[in-house]
Amino acid sequence: MVTIVGTLIFMLMIDWRIALAVVILTPLSLFVAAFIGKLSHKRFTEQQLLQGEISSYVEEHIGNQHIVKAFSYEERAIDDFEKLNSRLYDVGFKAQFAGALANPSTRFVNAMVYAAVGILGALAAVANSLSVGQLSCFLTYANQYTKPFNEVTGVLTQLQTALAAAGRVFDVLEAENETPDSENSPIISDCKGDVSIENVSFSYTKEKPLIKNFSLDVKSGSKIAIVGPTGCGKTTFINLLMRFYETDSGKISIDGIDIKSLSRDNLRRQFGMVLQDSWLFKGTIMENLRYGNENATDEEVVAAAKAAYAHSFIRKMSDGYNTVISEGGGNLSQGQKQLLCIARAMLTNPSILILDEATSSIDTLTEKRVQKAFAKMMEGKTSFVVAHRLSTIKESDVILVMKDGNIIEQGNHEELLAKNGFYYTLYTSQFAKA
Ligand SMILES: Nc1ncnc2c1ncn2[C@@H]1O[C@H](COP(=O)(O)OP(=O)(O)OP(=O)(O)O)[C@@H](O)[C@H]1O
Ligand SMILES: [Mg+2]
Repeated sequence: MVTIVGTLIFMLMIDWRIALAVVILTPLSLFVAAFIGKLSHKRFTEQQLLQGEISSYVEEHIGNQHIVKAFSYEERAIDDFEKLNSRLYDVGFKAQFAGALANPSTRFVNAMVYAAVGILGALAAVANSLSVGQLSCFLTYANQYTKPFNEVTGVLTQLQTALAAAGRVFDVLEAENETPDSENSPIISDCKGDVSIENVSFSYTKEKPLIKNFSLDVKSGSKIAIVGPTGCGKTTFINLLMRFYETDSGKISIDGIDIKSLSRDNLRRQFGMVLQDSWLFKGTIMENLRYGNENATDEEVVAAAKAAYAHSFIRKMSDGYNTVISEGGGNLSQGQKQLLCIARAMLTNPSILILDEATSSIDTLTEKRVQKAFAKMMEGKTSFVVAHRLSTIKESDVILVMKDGNIIEQGNHEELLAKNGFYYTLYTSQFAKA
């Protein structure tokens, strides 16, 4: 900017008419650059898109190489990669080529401007309104003046790559936000664990209603079991309780307070949960266990691990509680991961417990023991347990039998068996002889 303004002042001082010609002609180069920029922009966007596709393809296939190998998919995976890669090569080549055209073209236009100044100046010198010294001075200034314009177009390629990438970042940033928590939301500090669900409806996609008019009243301290065929909406129901998704209509309240009026943080702190897929973070076992309760002492962590029957296998690991587990818990068995997740939930000592198939990967004996520990921890508190193995939920106060997003039967084990309905069929199918 300083160069442009400075040289402009000096040029105006020498001869304002030729200076004006320079000022009017130089932006021509910007038009040329903008035109080329427009031509290449599409290619740059496409290049960025392909780059993203390649990255995710590579990540997916390296992360899941067991599956790739198990189905002998290597060659097809390489083929697919080559196709993507050659498309990226083509698009990248074209984008870079078009982008690289901008600088020489602007230089060319600016050189024409320089020539025009030379001709106009020479004419003025012949007419004696400009000295030869002034002309040579002017030409130097005109050259200085166009330089910044050339430099801008020189980085046009980088600029366009950055813009195309930024476009993709903004797609994410512009995604709709979840409704913010209200500022003066009530705070539950000592949760009793009454849960009431009134006429809740919910669907992931508008066209496919899933949960319709779901109502349920849970008194504090009860053990609720949810059973039902795969895909009937058990996990969905839990997602709604935790406010991972918002209900379409109806109301869920905890201790009489609508969960939509609570802050998400306060709501989720009332729950302890162990989910279907046990996720652990890269870090030591100690750090992972402390995830929900950073103030827990080492003794408390060990006590939780003992209660979850994880202590013995942790102790056998190379560094005990300081063993680093890899991302997603790759260096642990499924059952071990689940035991760690259970210990993690136990350490938070929640008011309401959610177990979604939480013990499905653990051997039956350990499962029995862990469930005893849960029962002891949850005495007088509310818990929701999703289980396919019905033997594990027989003792629940209320068993909800779900089908296609609705509760079709409800009651305790004996009542439901006596009904001779869907639960009876489920139960007897698991214990044929019984
Ligand atoms: N994120 C999602 N987006 C769209 N549809 C979904 C999503 N998650 C689940 N669904 C659909 O909602 C239905 C209920 O899924 P849900 O996970 O609640 O089943 P589930 O009862 O927990 O089954 P499972 O016993 O296999 O865990 C399924 O038909 C599923 O296809
Ligand atoms: Mg589920």
